[in-house]
Amino acid sequence: MNICVVGLQWGDEGKGKVVDILAEQCDMVVRYGGGSNAGHTVVIGDERFALHLLPSGSIRGDVACVIANAVVLDPEVLIGEITGLAERGISLEGRFFISENAHVVLDYHKKEDQLREESLGKHKIGTTIRGIGPCYADKVGRSYAVRMGDFRDLDALSAKLETIMAYKNKLFGALYGAEPTEAGAIVEKCKLYAEKLAPFVTDTTELLHTAIEGGRSLLFEGAQGSLLDLDHGTFPYVTSSNSSSLGLPSGCGVPARMVNKYIGVIKAYTTRVGAGPFPTEQDNEIGNFIREAGNEYGTTTGRPRRCGWFDAVAVLYGVKIGSIDSLVLLHLDTLSGLKELKVARAYEIDGEEKTFFPANIARLAKAKPVYETLPGWDEDLTGVTKFEDLPANAQAYVRRIEEIVGTPVGMVGVGPKRSQTIMR
Ligand code: GDP
Ligand code: IMO
Ligand code: MG
Repeated sequence: MNICVVGLQWGDEGKGKVVDILAEQCDMVVRYGGGSNAGHTVVIGDERFALHLLPSGSIRGDVACVIANAVVLDPEVLIGEITGLAERGISLEGRFFISENAHVVLDYHKKEDQLREESLGKHKIGTTIRGIGPCYADKVGRSYAVRMGDFRDLDALSAKLETIMAYKNKLFGALYGAEPTEAGAIVEKCKLYAEKLAPFVTDTTELLHTAIEGGRSLLFEGAQGSLLDLDHGTFPYVTSSNSSSLGLPSGCGVPARMVNKYIGVIKAYTTRVGAGPFPTEQDNEIGNFIREAGNEYGTTTGRPRRCGWFDAVAVLYGVKIGSIDSLVLLHLDTLSGLKELKVARAYEIDGEEKTFFPANIARLAKAKPVYETLPGWDEDLTGVTKFEDLPANAQAYVRRIEEIVGTPVGMVGVGPKRSQTIMR
């Protein structure tokens, strides 16, 4: 059984928690896109893990972990994570594999991300400054790209980096008046990265196909959310990869039909970090309530997340483009204490009611959410273990979401811990 877990909103839905739970029944967890812009949290007992590049399955000692070809990999972050896990007694030896085709995020990508965002002023995207956009741009441009496989031949890599730095220095100087950087420093860093990471580098496409042919169970861990997808999200306020499940086949070389189940992760409300349209945003005391109750601060950047009501139009879109079979609804506990809850079941655009999400931001800007109001509940849900033991209004809220989105909710989250999950 091969499963894909993907976020259906603007990221941070709780994918890390879901992957950690499902990894128990899997042999291999695969990251197929994004980079260290992701921040996936796993909480086990009193221990908290925040992972940016390593798949969330890495915490379980017996699961193989793969970083596939479409991930943009920041070696500094990855080495930090491997060391961090080792310090907590978790070894990746013999069970960790990196695609030779994964592109490498280097210092000049992060510098470019920052310089560009600063130069855009109020028009900035609000990126994580992790060098994601610039690295993917170099990948598409081809001539100035570095891939993990390049770490196998350091002489060739050094020569390549000389050419790249000459180009980047000219570009950054002309566009932003930035001081040039010596190629030497980055070459030295790459030698260190190669020493630590080259042993893990392999042909992961072959590895994944061999695993599938051998009857192994694979779990594909999406990063970001479907509405941040480069082609299908709210462009340009998106990330630079196909972060919906549509990115899986090209992201790791496994065809979509080899995946048996697509699980969409959603929060019981909506959040977004960075700029861009957000029709159900509550920039008021309701948004503040959700932010504090749900601890909605970025795992990667610490930025306060924008919060708002559940947007069924947006989620239904994620379900459609993602071929979603079932949903995991997290953070139901966060809504305890709100008298009434609103759910956007449609948008009104130019006087017409629409239920298909317009990813085009000019049309989305005109969208007025058509809300349905449901009664809230006061009870603390964090200790509830059975769906039938939830307050009637909380059960009704979940059922109504299932109805509007037309997809069953198989798991409900009532707290950050592994154990705070209700299976249905
Ligand atoms: P991801 O990027 O999709 O993996 O999500 P993040 O880790 O960035 O953000 C989700 C946050 O919600 C993390 O702090 C989780 O520990 C937390 N979390 C996950 N599920 C629940 C839940 O059901 N209730 C509460 N209160 N917190 C949860
Ligand atoms: P996880 O995997 C939430 C957002 C950024 C910004 C936009 C572009 O934890 O759900 P980028 O650095 O990718 O160029 O930024 O995308 N973004 C995320 N928001 N969760 C994420 O990942 C995100 N990864 C990128 O805030 O708006
Ligand atoms: Mg996150």
